Amino acid sequence: MRILLDGFTKSFGPMTVIDKMTLEIRDGEMLALLGPSGCGKSTTLFAICGIHKISAGRILFGDRDVTNVASQQRNVGVVFQSYALYPHMTVAENIAFPLEVKKLKAAEIKRQVDQMAELVHIEELMKRRPAELSGGQQQRVALARALVRKPDVLLLDEPLANLDSKLRLEMRSEIRRLQLATGITAILVTHDQVEAMSMCDRIAIMNAGEIVQIATPGEMYRNPRTEFVAGFLGNPPIAFLHGVATSGGFASVGGEAIALPASVPLPPPGSKLTLGIRPEHFGPTGNIPIRGRISFIETQGRENLYDVTLPSGSMLRSIQPLRGDVALNEEIEWSIAGDRILVFDEHGTRL
Ligand SMILES: Nc1ncnc2c1ncn2[C@@H]1O[C@H](COP(=O)(O)OP(=O)(O)O)[C@@H](O)[C@H]1O
Ligand SMILES: [Mg+2]
Repeated sequence: MRILLDGFTKSFGPMTVIDKMTLEIRDGEMLALLGPSGCGKSTTLFAICGIHKISAGRILFGDRDVTNVASQQRNVGVVFQSYALYPHMTVAENIAFPLEVKKLKAAEIKRQVDQMAELVHIEELMKRRPAELSGGQQQRVALARALVRKPDVLLLDEPLANLDSKLRLEMRSEIRRLQLATGITAILVTHDQVEAMSMCDRIAIMNAGEIVQIATPGEMYRNPRTEFVAGFLGNPPIAFLHGVATSGGFASVGGEAIALPASVPLPPPGSKLTLGIRPEHFGPTGNIPIRGRISFIETQGRENLYDVTLPSGSMLRSIQPLRGDVALNEEIEWSIAGDRILVFDEHGTRL
């Protein structure tokens, strides 16, 4: 089901949190709403779900205008960070609940509940109560309960935030598998860029109530429109060098002069400039040499992460396969892949 937010505006009293947002979620896609805490992600989800009445604009499900339709009549499935299972009911009863409300026949309810239990792999837990389940199991039950009524859209608000890191990893692929298997249109609210990148078809990055950019994870990573987006995606994060344009290059605030290839879009000399350099684009094999000192080495297993402090005190990061030939505090001359440098103007807009 295609969802359209058209000029969606939400105020709480005098405070406008979302101002005329337009956002389309395509039929069958999983879209991440990604942004820092407080930027308005949950508010947007609550509006789609119908928990919040919106202040202006329209919400369409397909061709149907649901702006003034009650939450129960929108046919949405919702999973929150806190699982909100009914504690006095068994797993089976929890999943059956939305169907009981619909007054389906007992045999039909059992059939659908069993089918759902199989889909989320909890067949052996059906007689337990929520208190007897791990966090990951509870979240599976919550997913089953959200999906059992065959909603037109699945809304997930930080569904993995309460899980430990191993479970989070497992549930990440589990949720994506379910979404692909059912073909349901889904919106995932998260502040975790790795979650958004790994689970979703497209990402909408939000900041202060606005959508800053919508793109596929790969496109967003390679072509961030702003410094904010570039800094938000990537782990380890991108490094920024602040300074000004010179003729044919860049001078950092701390004094490094870096000659840049013609492919780098430079504004007139003297203009404020920020260079964004991802850790995989800085190392022994680039084309723009730069001197520094290895100030930190983090072994990650397959790869090492090297912090390189430049003479000015600025820092670049490099990620590389394990290498035995550099040591902490060693002076190195490595280089940047010139064609991969991201250049931002003083407003943080990509040049
Ligand atoms: N019920 C409410 N009343 C007043 N302000 C609210 C309410 N809900 C959210 N807000 C405010 O709206 C902004 C966005 O909140 P929210 O959508 O929860 O952010 P996010 O989910 O991105 O962390 C915040 O500044 C928050 O304080
Ligand atoms: Mg939230």
